[in-house]
Order: sequence, then C-alpha cells, then structure tokens
Amino acid sequence: MPVIKVDDIAHVRFAAPDLASMRAFLEDFGLNPFEQGGRLYARGSDGRPFVHVTEPGEARFLALGLRAETVEDLALLAAHEGVALEDMDEPGGGKVVRLVDPDGYGVEVVAGQVCEPAGRLPADLPTNTAAAKPRFRATVRLEPAPAHVRRIGHAVLKVRDFRRSEAWYKARFGFLTSDEVEAAEGVPLGAFMRCDRGDKPADHHTLFLAQLPGELGLLHAAFEVINLDDLMLGHQHLKAKKREAAWGVGRHIMGSQIFDYWKDPFGNELEHWTDGDLFTAADPPQKQPMSALLAVQWGSPHPMSTGRFPPPAGLVSFIMALQIRIRRLFARKPKGTPA
Ligand SMILES: [Fe+2]
Repeated sequence: MPVIKVDDIAHVRFAAPDLASMRAFLEDFGLNPFEQGGRLYARGSDGRPFVHVTEPGEARFLALGLRAETVEDLALLAAHEGVALEDMDEPGGGKVVRLVDPDGYGVEVVAGQVCEPAGRLPADLPTNTAAAKPRFRATVRLEPAPAHVRRIGHAVLKVRDFRRSEAWYKARFGFLTSDEVEAAEGVPLGAFMRCDRGDKPADHHTLFLAQLPGELGLLHAAFEVINLDDLMLGHQHLKAKKREAAWGVGRHIMGSQIFDYWKDPFGNELEHWTDGDLFTAADPPQKQPMSALLAVQWGSPHPMSTGRFPPPAGLVSFIMALQIRIRRLFARKPKGTPA
C-alpha cells in the first residue's frame, strides 16, 4: 500500500532571471500570470490558486507540485518521511510537505489550498461530421487569441534509473502505470503513470518518468486547453508572437492527446493539449515499444525524425536498450526497493 494516493499534479516551479520575460511568455501561452511576494505565479481557469511558479534566480527547474486529497494525508506523508508539515506561504495557503526524489528533484505535496470558483467554459460548438450535422444555419467564427489554459495536467521528468524512481513515486503517492515504454523487450525506459482515483476517471498520465541519456531535468509540463479550436488559435498566436515552437501540432499514441509544444524564454518546454484519454484504477497497465513514444497518429513528426539524416527508429531503440542494460550491469540495487 502506498503512503498516500495523490489526486493530481498541482504545479511546476521554476527559477528564472527575468520574471517580466517569463510573464510575457505565459500570457502568450494562455496562462494568467500575477506577481506576489516577489514571485511570479500563473493560474488556469479551473479555480486553483496557481499552476506555474517562477522565482527569481538562475534559470532552472525547481520542483514538481502534487496534490494530496486532505491535510490528514499530508500529515501521514510527513510522519512517514520524517519531515515537517509546513504552512504554505503562497497564494491559496494550505499545507505542504517538501521532499526530494532519488534524482534530487524537489517534490512539493500540497493540500488544503483555498480555490476560487472555476471559470465558466464556453459551450462546445456542435461539430458537423460525415455521420451527423448538428450545426445548421449557424457559422463558425473564431477570434484570434491566446489559448485558454484550463489546468495543469502532467509533467515529464528525466531520471537516472527508471525502476528506482518508479518505486519511489509509487510507494509514496500510489501512482498506477498506464503505459510502460520499452526500448527492447524487458528493457523499460519509462512509464506514463496516472493517479489512483479508484473508479473516478483520471488522466492517462499525470507523471511520466523517462530514463533517457543526457542531463537530468524536466522534459515538459503540460496544460489542458479548451478544445481543438482553442489549441490551434493558441498555436497561431504563439507563432505570431515569434515564440519558439518545439513540436506539434499532432496526436500522440499513448494518451491520445492532440499536442502542441513550445519553449519558454529560458528553454523550458510547455505543452498545450486537448482530448486526452481517461482511465480508472481498474484499467490494467500496457507495454508499448519506444517507437510509439515518438510516433504520431497524425501531424508533425518528432523533431528527431525531421533532420536531413534522421536516425532509424530501430537504431535509436537499440542504442537506448544497450545503454540501459549497461547501466543495469553496473547499478547497485537500491536498498528496500523492488527490482
Ligand atoms: Fe505531454
């Protein structure tokens, strides 16, 4: 049994040397930024006090925020870890337990935050398809605008040892595997993990841990927008503002989302997504090949495969599997964690 079961991701925390520049980007991205206590916060329209924080400092990723259901859960977690249950001195208040994961990432588990009422969402326009034409004598007229971020949905962390990190996060927070990604049969490089909400729907992934070569860091954080039109209007807006596109638009395989990735002025990648999969705790984990991670169902291919001499997918998987196997050979099994 895990120590607690987290309900969702809460926020991502960064440091950046220029809060004004970050603020301008977040506005273009469709978040609602505001400054308080020397920090830059940004919220979506779901009523949560903030989903993105920037502190002044050298540009880097600082922490992943997760949301516990109750302050009592936080007290259990704090006791288990032997750390303090602290007051949250930030918008929305509440309590926080601050941990450090096996790779040194800060993990801030929050509960008891005061939320505003969620903003009203526009009604979905009826969509005409070959099968059904519910929109009759009515036009589609969309105004150019940034996307409208509703909420934060997931984060992707690069880890040194997937099995070690998976054990750490599952034991404390009750994450369930939706899709485990293999570089070769029996050689996992990561997993898309969702919150255990019992029979209530949960996003296909709230956390993706990926053992990939190169420096550690946050690979991206993802934010849900209203719908496909909103995502595409947001794409046009970011393009018009000459922001740096990273990958998209396309539809993923694992999670099925329609995605669009952009870089902030400090190199952090943020994703807009819409129309993702939802599962309950009853849905069993699946295994997927690495090729499905970078492939799309439609849309822009991954940047790695768009160069003049793109590496064959099979070769990339082979090298990844080799690297993980070599690491396994030399790795010491962490104490008290399952293999
Ligand atoms: Fe994502």
